[in-house]
Amino acid sequence: MKVRLFKGATMQDLNTEFIQRVRETHGGERYVITTHGCQMNEHDSEKIKTLLDTMGLIETDDEEQADFSIINTCSVRHSAEDKVIGHIGRLKHVKKTNKKLKVAVCGCMMQRKESRDYVLETFPHVNIVFGTNNIYRLPQLILENDDRNTRIVDIEESYSNLDNRIFSEVKGNSAYVNIIYGCNNFCTYCIVPYTRGREISRSPEDIIEEIQALVADGVNEVTLLGQNVNSYGNTLEEKTSFADLLRRVHEIEGIERIQFTTSHPKDMSDDLISCYGELPKLANFLHLPVQAGSNRVLKAMNRHYTREDYFLLIDKLRAVRPDIALSTDIMVGFPGETEEDFEDTLDLVRRVRYDSAFTFIYSRREGTRADRMENQVPKEVKDARFQRLLDEIYRIQREKYEALIGTEQDVLFDSRSKNDETMMSGRTNGFKLVHVPYEEDSIGKIRKVKIVGGNTFSLRGEIVHGNK
Ligand code: 5AD
Ligand code: SF4
Repeated sequence: MKVRLFKGATMQDLNTEFIQRVRETHGGERYVITTHGCQMNEHDSEKIKTLLDTMGLIETDDEEQADFSIINTCSVRHSAEDKVIGHIGRLKHVKKTNKKLKVAVCGCMMQRKESRDYVLETFPHVNIVFGTNNIYRLPQLILENDDRNTRIVDIEESYSNLDNRIFSEVKGNSAYVNIIYGCNNFCTYCIVPYTRGREISRSPEDIIEEIQALVADGVNEVTLLGQNVNSYGNTLEEKTSFADLLRRVHEIEGIERIQFTTSHPKDMSDDLISCYGELPKLANFLHLPVQAGSNRVLKAMNRHYTREDYFLLIDKLRAVRPDIALSTDIMVGFPGETEEDFEDTLDLVRRVRYDSAFTFIYSRREGTRADRMENQVPKEVKDARFQRLLDEIYRIQREKYEALIGTEQDVLFDSRSKNDETMMSGRTNGFKLVHVPYEEDSIGKIRKVKIVGGNTFSLRGEIVHGNK
């Protein structure tokens, strides 16, 4: 198994000596990895898996049998933190029957001193703690934990040395690629700027090189990742905009579909919108978090756009790609949200008609400005609004999915269905999930599919033969 390096990094940077030593001492042992949170964390977990696999460890889903349990944590909502805390707590009991188990905790919660200290004080059975900026040091941390037989805590405040980070092992035809880390926005509800730190962009050369290497490994779809991809390039010596980067990625032979997440509406430039007209490989899909439909709430959230600005963006996008599929993040119950504000959110949802949406109940995060605001919305009110929002989102989503019945769609197939081996699934260019009868040679390929059925969450189709 290979660990590929970024340009300029040497094998020494990646501590091959440590990798080799872990392989000798821990090769053949089993690990479980549990991932909470967003795509950024999923991708970080892929990197952790690559490292562990490279060191000869074997993945399992049984903590009773595991030698290592790695928990990659999320801080974005209280409920995510609660889940992590519950999981770590349960591992104390697992350790009573499985004495060899080592517990490693990483991710956003560990980047925040308050949460980290809480975990360290409450759970003496945690063996290794690391953060989001030093995944590549994991082999060393495992060895230090062995040698010193004591708890190892290793955190880096910011992305100091991007060049010697690892690529993740490619498992299919689709891959995530980090382009920008951190966030400078300080939306008043959000903990991310306090965990993942300030924005820093990777150089276009590194990104292109990584994508070319992915293509050589069989990848034809990339998702460019960042907390706010639209502000890509601001920290680079040689200014490059996100639109410039997209154009360069588009030129890479072998890449057939390009997606990205997440876009901040305030940084969605006309140049970026024009990419949708220019670049056919750009998926017919955009995730554009709106958060709220009321101007008063948007201002209190520090989002720097109005609902009118947002509508204008959607109009411009639909002018270049009339059938573009849209998704969003929306929150209910932000401090001070009135019934009228909430009605504005419902109205915005009805007007934009999202193809899908992630819906959230506002969750207080210590240290953020919104947490210090008075007039927090009572739980019952938040819950009731959430249900009404969900009903509206699902109603529209169902209409959007059903409208595709009878049409032909380009579907990129990524996998055989786990629970039904006779079926496989893929995504339309508008990111809708499609199930069709399994055909081995279509995995990893784009096929024309006739849509024959569907509901709120997925479509059923048949490959149109003679069109391969
Ligand atoms: N409460 C609820 N939802 C939140 N999000 C971020 N912070 C909070 C919070 N404190 C949501 C936003 C963001 C998504 C990733 O999570 O909608 O876009
Ligand atoms: Fe959080 Fe706002 Fe940054 Fe997104 S843009 S990570 S919501 S602060």
